[in-house]
Amino acid sequence: MSNVSLPLTFPDGFLWGGATAANQIEGAYDQGGKGLSVQDVMPMGIVGPRTEAPTPDNLKLVAIDHYHRYAEDIALFAEMGFKVYRFSIAWSRVFPNGDDAEPNEEGLAFYDRVLDELEKHGIEPLVTISHYETPLHLAEAYDGWTDRRLIGFYERYARTLFERYGSRVRYWLTFNEINSLLHAPFMSGGIATPKEDLSDQQLYQAMHHELVASARATRIAREVAPGAQIGCMVLSMPVYPLSPSPEDALAVMTADHANLVYGDVHTRGVYPGYFLRTLREKGIELQITDEDRDDLTNIVDFVSFSYYMSIAETADPAKKAAGEGNIMGGVPNPTLPASEWGWQIDPIGLRLVLNQFWDRWQKPLFIVENGLGAKDQLVEVDGRKTVIDDYRIAYLRDHLVQVGEAIADGVEVLGYTTWGCIDIVSASTAQLSKRYGFIYVDRNDDGSGTLERHRKKSFDWYREVIRTNGAALVDEAAAKDLTR
Ligand code: BG6
Repeated sequence: MSNVSLPLTFPDGFLWGGATAANQIEGAYDQGGKGLSVQDVMPMGIVGPRTEAPTPDNLKLVAIDHYHRYAEDIALFAEMGFKVYRFSIAWSRVFPNGDDAEPNEEGLAFYDRVLDELEKHGIEPLVTISHYETPLHLAEAYDGWTDRRLIGFYERYARTLFERYGSRVRYWLTFNEINSLLHAPFMSGGIATPKEDLSDQQLYQAMHHELVASARATRIAREVAPGAQIGCMVLSMPVYPLSPSPEDALAVMTADHANLVYGDVHTRGVYPGYFLRTLREKGIELQITDEDRDDLTNIVDFVSFSYYMSIAETADPAKKAAGEGNIMGGVPNPTLPASEWGWQIDPIGLRLVLNQFWDRWQKPLFIVENGLGAKDQLVEVDGRKTVIDDYRIAYLRDHLVQVGEAIADGVEVLGYTTWGCIDIVSASTAQLSKRYGFIYVDRNDDGSGTLERHRKKSFDWYREVIRTNGAALVDEAAAKDLTR
């Protein structure tokens, strides 16, 4: 018998949906006046070196051709009953070089059309302003976010979006996984200098510039789009002590602080004391102006985050083996299974993160990424091509049950968007075979394929979860005898 709380209730109006990012879905990398972004020279994701110019082996150049097929894709999302769709606007579609004086009208018009389709189907948009796709020119001419002038370029870009779409878009995220900057400086911060050549001073200054830019965007939204709800977006990764020793618990606290500082600043408007200590100990003197301090006080309306996995931490250098993971990784947890890519699967970790963030920040939370990257096998059932992805259903169900538990704990959760609701190109490995979707896209790692879309088994499952506002999960959970 299951001991999951029954009934599992999700609030009325809970925003069920899916999420993508422009560089991983759109393709058309050089069409409609778009400039290059850092992703156009990252054919191997973050695992390999960048190239000087776009190369044909870069799957993101075509991605899944959503630029031309957005209407078909959004219709499929509507068929599942999506209440919300998270997508990003490609900065280099709107400002091809990033520092242009005027926006590219053709780029803006594309997102008008996307919003038209969403409106037609009654799907609420959730827009990420910057998702790992800084214009390449800003990387090459300014060294990305190490340069203070990026704040002004981002401000112009954000203002353009709020003015253009502010009456149509309620939920906005300023930077995707802003806390990944120190780990992936080129992808996350458009910083062209190789990571090994960057000083802590440069990296932390870049972090400060992004935090100021994020807060300034919030301030601008209040002026030009008063109905907008602005959220920060962080990569969440709960950290467990590898042993019960106080030293390991302290190592957890330190690792936690390194991640939580971004949310702390976004929700409190000042740098926390533990972070100032880190700066002192590293000998870093941040250049912070009075205007910066004032900007930072523009705190967010909600906190959004990605959740894929947890990690362990230890103070013992002999046990500090590095595991695989979402950008930052950590010490593998011997109690947990892992995905084919080594990301450790931990549904309860999601409940822990929800409670931790709520207790700490008292801001509504939005889970804007969660899902299982897996290899899928296309099969034919009753003359229809599909994927029997019970593993994906199990992963999502187990995580959603924990979301329900967190809601029962009193956590305010606005919604849940699965990552890569349609198969897209992976950010870390740039593969198409690392699939997250409810919709299979016929494209392979060698670039072959028809780009046809096929509904997977999880497509019908998720439609049922949404239709019943989560109630369908309970039967699933009871059947599997989930434990708390
Ligand atoms: C997050 C990113 O880190 O994880 C996404 O915001 C990314 O862009 C997602 O795609 C899943 O990672 P991956 O490497 O499996 O695509």
